[in-house]
Amino acid sequence: MHGIKTVGVIGAGQMGGGIAQVSAVAGFKTLVYDAFPKSLDKCKADHEKRLARDVEKQKLSQADADAARERLRYVSGLEPFGDCDIVIEAVVEDVKVKVALFTQLAEMFAKIPGKQILASNTSSISITEIAAACNNIKGPSVHAPEQIIGMHFFNPVPIMKLVEVINGLATSAETTQRTIALAEAMGKTPLPANDRPGFVSNRVLMPMINEAFYAWMEGVAKPEDIDGIMKLGCNFPMGPLNLADFIGLDTCVHIMDVLADGLNNDRYRACPLLKQLVTAGRLGVKSGRGVFEYQKK
Ligand code: CAA
Ligand code: NAD
Repeated sequence: MHGIKTVGVIGAGQMGGGIAQVSAVAGFKTLVYDAFPKSLDKCKADHEKRLARDVEKQKLSQADADAARERLRYVSGLEPFGDCDIVIEAVVEDVKVKVALFTQLAEMFAKIPGKQILASNTSSISITEIAAACNNIKGPSVHAPEQIIGMHFFNPVPIMKLVEVINGLATSAETTQRTIALAEAMGKTPLPANDRPGFVSNRVLMPMINEAFYAWMEGVAKPEDIDGIMKLGCNFPMGPLNLADFIGLDTCVHIMDVLADGLNNDRYRACPLLKQLVTAGRLGVKSGRGVFEYQKK
């Protein structure tokens, strides 16, 4: 049993927003925080839209959607997270930002009774490294590294079934079992992967996406044809370039950096064209333009 009643989500972007929605619909009191008030406002508006759409499509009853809305709380600081049984971090894919957040949370929970789990939705970063930064934080109730784990959801969270579960070197068996039980309670299928750069999903997926950028850069085919070939030829729901836009080109570069550094092999370096688009502010769907153009939502 997970013993979880209240879930905290940090980072209200496309992943954090989706995780919070799924959590609230699954019956958990859910707190959402973002460092940027605009992101939090957008997340709230997206929840309203998505819940209303699910009612319209008869995926959810009006009463269940109202109950999910009631369970969601959008907060402007981390203090209320003291009430959470698990915190799921979904901020930018940057180890420094994640470590700063985890040490802050571990210090807070070291003073609060209970066995709170600190989970990261990281796509690629070492859970062991995040947890090690909390090694010396001790308190009456928690020794943080044992309660730190990777809980990797997939985009779009309400639709995708997988949660990749990653143990750090110090993660306790109890933390893993509770995280698996929570993922199942959220209607997901948890599968384990070891704590290696990119785990399984992005070790396999991201080099393919990166290669699609090389194919474009080298003129092998036009972007729409690269995507068309992979969609029709491999039965992918989206071509790799469209998928990169959907994930966020900035996130793709961060993941490739982790692969290249962590696996110590330059064949994982982000394609220069992919990096150039990020430099230009073309981040994909979330900025309105990446490889392709998108209607601003
Ligand atoms: N949030 C919630 N729901 C969404 C959504 C979003 N952002 N985008 C689409 N949906 C829902 C729609 O509401 C629709 O629901 P119903 O079936 O109940 O009607 C369903 O998804 C299908 O949507 P559409 O009919 O509009 O479009 P589609 O058939 O083209 O499907 C898709 C959209 C589900 C995104 C599909 O294209 C797909 O599966 N794409 C691949 C997604 C993928 O590979 N994700 C993994 C990315 S990698 C990752 O997440 C890990 C990482 O670390 C980077
Ligand atoms: P995003 O850019 O949509 O959202 C990130 C959010 O974090 C933003 O709203 C930003 O304001 C907020 N943020 C940044 N620093 C913060 C801080 N210090 N405290 C609080 N909030 C902060 O990114 P995303 O796509 O939601 O990705 C978030 C995480 O999920 C990353 O680690 C990413 O690798 C991972 N992930 C992404 C995908 C994907 O397909 N995009 C899939 C699985 C996992």
